[in-house]
Amino acid sequence: MSPEQGLRSAARERAASAARWGLSQGLPRGALRLASLRGDPVAPLLMDPGRDDAMAIADGLRRRGPVVLTGALGAVPGHAAANAVLRSDSFGVGGGHGELPPHLRRLLDRVTRDRARGPVDPPSMLAVDPPQHTRYRRLVAKAFTPRHVAVLEDRIAETADELLAALASVGGFDLVARYASQLPVAVIGDLLGVDPKDRQDLLRWGDSAALLLDPGLSWRQFREAERAMVALADWFTAHVRRLRADPGDDLLSRLAVLGGDDALDEVELRAVGLLVLAAGFETTVSLISNAVALLDRHPAQLSKLKGDPDLWGNAVDEVLRYDSPVQLTMRVAYEDAVIEGVRLGRGQSLILLLAGANRDPAVFDDPHTFAVTRPNAADHIAFSSGVHYCLGAGLARLEARVALRMLYERFPGLRVSGVPQRRRTRVLRGYERLPVAVGP
Ligand code: HEM
Repeated sequence: MSPEQGLRSAARERAASAARWGLSQGLPRGALRLASLRGDPVAPLLMDPGRDDAMAIADGLRRRGPVVLTGALGAVPGHAAANAVLRSDSFGVGGGHGELPPHLRRLLDRVTRDRARGPVDPPSMLAVDPPQHTRYRRLVAKAFTPRHVAVLEDRIAETADELLAALASVGGFDLVARYASQLPVAVIGDLLGVDPKDRQDLLRWGDSAALLLDPGLSWRQFREAERAMVALADWFTAHVRRLRADPGDDLLSRLAVLGGDDALDEVELRAVGLLVLAAGFETTVSLISNAVALLDRHPAQLSKLKGDPDLWGNAVDEVLRYDSPVQLTMRVAYEDAVIEGVRLGRGQSLILLLAGANRDPAVFDDPHTFAVTRPNAADHIAFSSGVHYCLGAGLARLEARVALRMLYERFPGLRVSGVPQRRRTRVLRGYERLPVAVGP
């Protein structure tokens, strides 16, 4: 390619990226800002779902009814209605950008380069409906049966032990960088045949690409996230090439060699593989670090766990309920529907406040109290519900239970020792940095 051709191609690429940003981020960003200025109660929550007053806003919305419609936006703040929408055939994911009218969504799809397709662009499982979704889900679900997950416990414990042993001689460390992020990336990496030397690159790219789950990114954030997505896609293509030449006993090797009706094309394989990979480490890191931060603020709850380690499983669900790593998701009505007595027209976009639903007093007594012995903690919808119910829920629960129990067994005096810093992502809620000291 000559220098002029190179320049022209870079200019074309930038123009396409600007079109993608405008459609997928700029339009919703402008609409949200306008709605916020007009006093819309839902818009601030969508712009910043993890804000300090998010739960108070969700409580206020819930008092207004099961579905709160404000102009173009619709919010579902309660448990029963969110569950009903997620389980209903009348609603779907709307091509992953449910807030956009269908003709703009089609245009967005046309200007999206295959290598830059993110977690909410088709054919990601999060962005397609049945029957396409059913096909991908069936292929991946074979690797995540409870039987498969249960046998991972020893491997998870081994990995946790190695990480903790390396920290034993250090007085303090950043829990996120040294433990909460390292365990999930090692576990999912092993499941997908990833070379351990690639893990830190994946964490870095995954962190930036996770921004693509947030609505209304700035141009700068969008470019950063897209570049990371392209880096992930290129890494993935090379990784699959290696696996095809020398298949291992891992999920990706099995998916890569499927034939006949089950065969996935390159774009599908990348979408499925990268989603499982990134979902595997981008969320569990938040679960583990949210738990440590919460237990630090609730020492009496931590004492109960130290006294009875069998409680760890329930404690993990209480953390998922109380400080949900995925704050919200979206659905679109594909036909007129009635949810908890509220009539909704075809095309209505709904924001399902998963974190808000997990504080619904109709389901959870005293919902704003963190209690590791809560009898129905597991009734939360932090893993969503219906056909998109998290594929990795069993694995995430197991990883967190093992990671936390072993962390406090090794360092009974562990405490937060500096100012924690929240992640900059909005739909995903967790910590960027959580300094801890491990003295007696
Ligand atoms: C604390 C940890 C996790 C949380 C809170 C979480 C949460 C979620 C949520 C809320 C959804 C559905 C979103 C929607 O309905 O629109 C989802 C889907 C998904 N999750 Fe997770 N997740 C976690 C861990 C994992 C892990 C460890 C894996 C992989 C091993 C994983 C893989 C997936 C996949 C593949 C989907 C798409 C399922 C589908 O569309 O059918 N997740 N997750």
